[in-house]
Amino acid sequence: MTILVTGGAGFIGSNFVLDWLAQSDEKVVNLDVLSYAGNLENLASLQGDARHVFVQGDICDRTLVDRLLAEHQPRALVHFAAESHVDRSISGPGAFMRTNIEGTYSLLEASRQYWSGLSDEAKAAFRFHHVSTDEVYGSLAPHDPAFAETKTYEPNSPYSASKAASDHLVRAWHHTYGLPVLTTNCSNNYGPYHFPEKLIPLMIVNALAGKPLPVYGDGQQIRDWLYVTDHASAIRAVLDGGRVGETYNIGGWNEMANIDIVKTVCALLDELRPDPAGPYSRLITYVKDRPGHDRRYAIDARKVERELGWRPAETFASGIRKTVQWYLDHPDWVARVQSGAYRDWVSQQYGA
Ligand code: NAD
Ligand code: DAU
Repeated sequence: MTILVTGGAGFIGSNFVLDWLAQSDEKVVNLDVLSYAGNLENLASLQGDARHVFVQGDICDRTLVDRLLAEHQPRALVHFAAESHVDRSISGPGAFMRTNIEGTYSLLEASRQYWSGLSDEAKAAFRFHHVSTDEVYGSLAPHDPAFAETKTYEPNSPYSASKAASDHLVRAWHHTYGLPVLTTNCSNNYGPYHFPEKLIPLMIVNALAGKPLPVYGDGQQIRDWLYVTDHASAIRAVLDGGRVGETYNIGGWNEMANIDIVKTVCALLDELRPDPAGPYSRLITYVKDRPGHDRRYAIDARKVERELGWRPAETFASGIRKTVQWYLDHPDWVARVQSGAYRDWVSQQYGA
């Protein structure tokens, strides 16, 4: 048996592929365009492994997607590929509309065509698993209940609006055509191979380089953090046992303010790689806020626990320690992802 994964060279996708092949021998066909966020180095340990077939290509390319489905006959498609960074969606929304909306549409149509030609048994077994985000639900006030699957969609950024649009397409392809879909809406992930444009890896790499740690606004925005391999295990659980057409919220039961995340990273670095110049927290710098910045996200993950018995394995304390250690152990990976394009982004976003 085979699964087709999109975006499997990105942060979560590569962790998912590595985790999948560590747990089973089921082949993975991995379709990824290798945008700035895609990195084959994340998958280096799979070199020469016949269970992993990497295809460089665009999910918007229907001919290619049709060919891969016909050739590999997957029993499931797990869709990670996306433009994923909120700040980039603010400065350049076009790529988000194309990949996140048109790309999902292209995969849905290709899957529908492929699925309708399957035998009854294969048809019943096929799954289109859409990997989405908690950001589609909008922003919570301090005492609001956490996001349940029934929460209305109120996306606030071009990124979250494009993901919300893709969620609606997935829902409609099930409702109208009967395509067997599953959607997971997950909170903020962290862990190995996280591209250092996002909060946690940016703070680690900047601190190690003695650079300012830019905290947006007052730093009191709250996110619900989940270690990335827990996200991978949640997707496996939903793919195995999730009810077709349902959505499942995935989260870490771990709400934290950004400034506390940054202070935790600094404290771990003080312990693991002390800086003779003084505590890393001296580098914390409050900067201009993100336009339209969502104040709080929190996931109510009771449905996936109740129906499928899934809970995160890592605590934040164990996951963040592993993460900081991973970055300390992989200076070459960090150096290589900080290419010219990365430096251009950093200077555009944070100025001098
Ligand atoms: P990422 O930006 O690290 O990786 C995205 C991957 O998609 C890259 O490998 C990139 O090359 C690939 N890609 C981009 N455009 C493509 C295209 N047109 N065709 C084929 N491949 C393309 O993203 P991530 O953080 O790993 O997120 C993966 C998915 O999970 C996304 O759908 C995102 O919305 C969702 N998600 C992310 C988080 C998070 O905290 N990072 C949380 C919840 C949900
Ligand atoms: O909630 C899930 C989402 O989490 C995913 O759908 C997105 O793909 C993923 O990028 C992430 O979005 P966020 O905007 O929450 O993540 P980011 O790491 O960019 O920012 C986390 C918080 O930290 C947010 O409140 C903004 C703040 N921040 C971020 C950066 C990059 C800073 O204060 N300074 C920074 O330099």
